[in-house]
Order: sequence, then C-alpha cells, then structure tokens
Amino acid sequence: MIDITNLSVRFGEKQVFDNYSISLPDEGVILISGESGIGKTTLLRVLCGLQKPDQGRIEGLGNRRISFVFQEPRLLDHLTAFENVALVSDRITAERILRELNMQNELNSKAGKLSGGQKQRVSLARAFAYSNDIVLLDEPFNGLDAQNKEKAASMIRTARLAVVVSHDPDDAELLSVDEKIQL
Ligand SMILES: Nc1ncnc2c1ncn2[C@@H]1O[C@H](COP(=O)(O)OP(=O)(O)OP(=O)(O)O)[C@@H](O)[C@H]1O
Ligand SMILES: [Mg+2]
Repeated sequence: MIDITNLSVRFGEKQVFDNYSISLPDEGVILISGESGIGKTTLLRVLCGLQKPDQGRIEGLGNRRISFVFQEPRLLDHLTAFENVALVSDRITAERILRELNMQNELNSKAGKLSGGQKQRVSLARAFAYSNDIVLLDEPFNGLDAQNKEKAASMIRTARLAVVVSHDPDDAELLSVDEKIQL
C-alpha cells in the first residue's frame, strides 16, 4: 500500500488539503476525480515529490520509479516527437511506443509544431517509454479522439500502477479501473 497520512497543503489563504489521509493499492488502475480546483493535480505532485506538503507523510513508495503525464504536455519543442521520447529510453522502445499511439507519421516532426492531441500522445509515449513502476496521469485523454483515446487507455492498463486524474466519469469504464477516489 501507498499511504498518505494527515496531508495538509495550503497556498496562501487557500487550504487545498487539511489533514487528508488515503491509501492507494500497489497495483492496478486508480481513478481520481473531483471538481476543478479541488486539488487533483496537487495530490499527484505531492505523490511524486514535486510539491512539498506543509504537513503529512507519504509512505510505501520505496524507490519505485515514477512517470508523470502532466496536465499540459511539457515537451521540448525544438526536438522531434521521437527525440522527446528517446530522451528517456532506447531508440527502439521510443519508436515502438510512438507507433502504438498512432504517431508513426510524426516521428520526425518538431514537437512545437504538433497539434494538441499529437503533443498529448508524445507526452504519454514519454511516460511509458521510461521504465517505470508507477505512472501518474493528469487528464491523459486531453485532446484525444475516440480511437486514440482507446489506444491510450490500453497502454495505461499495462501499467503496474496507474493513478489517473479525470473529470469524465466514462473514463472509469474505458480504463476498467480497480478503484475510484472522489476528492
Ligand atoms: N503553485 C500554486 N500556487 C498557488 N496556488 C496554487 C498552486 N497550485 C495550485 N494552487 C491552487 O490550489 C488549488 C488546487 O489546484 P489543483 O491544480 O490541484 O486543482 P485541480 O483539482 O487539479 O483542478 P483542475 O481540474 O482545474 O486541473 C487551486 O485553488 C489552485 O489555484
Ligand atoms: Mg489539475
């Protein structure tokens, strides 16, 4: 189990978490939902150590390797789609995963020139090309059409542990989630 205990996070006057505790299983697909601004992104950032909480403990992560699909793609725009992914993996893996996400025709396109949905797929590919134990995904289906959404969902289901933030209740079925957390 991954245990978050007595978590408190505040930004100025805004208390985002106040003594919040939750346990996550070690495996499976977990869906986190909740209204905009409630703290979904903050929780993912706390989980991977990008956000230091004011109070609380996170236990059970050990030294597991974490991939993060950010709410915005955060690619290196001057590199190609392929180069962005190959930064974190060998070249064969990078190409294979991009192809699985239907990006075979854009391997050598500069990331800065891709469409929103294409950037999102490169961002997903980068997370899965990295040899991870846990994938944190913040609205991973942003900008994807139905076919690409299904491909992305299949990839997410291969993760040992995927923690997915989504506002769309239909994603629970698409991802065959093992556990839902409502913030
Ligand atoms: N770095 C920051 N500085 C100040 N306030 C912040 C910061 N990060 C988050 N917040 C505030 O914390 C609250 C939770 O933000 P968070 O991004 O976690 O929400 P969210 O649930 O992911 O929302 P959305 O669904 O819109 O992405 C919001 O009120 C936001 O304004
Ligand atoms: Mg968010």
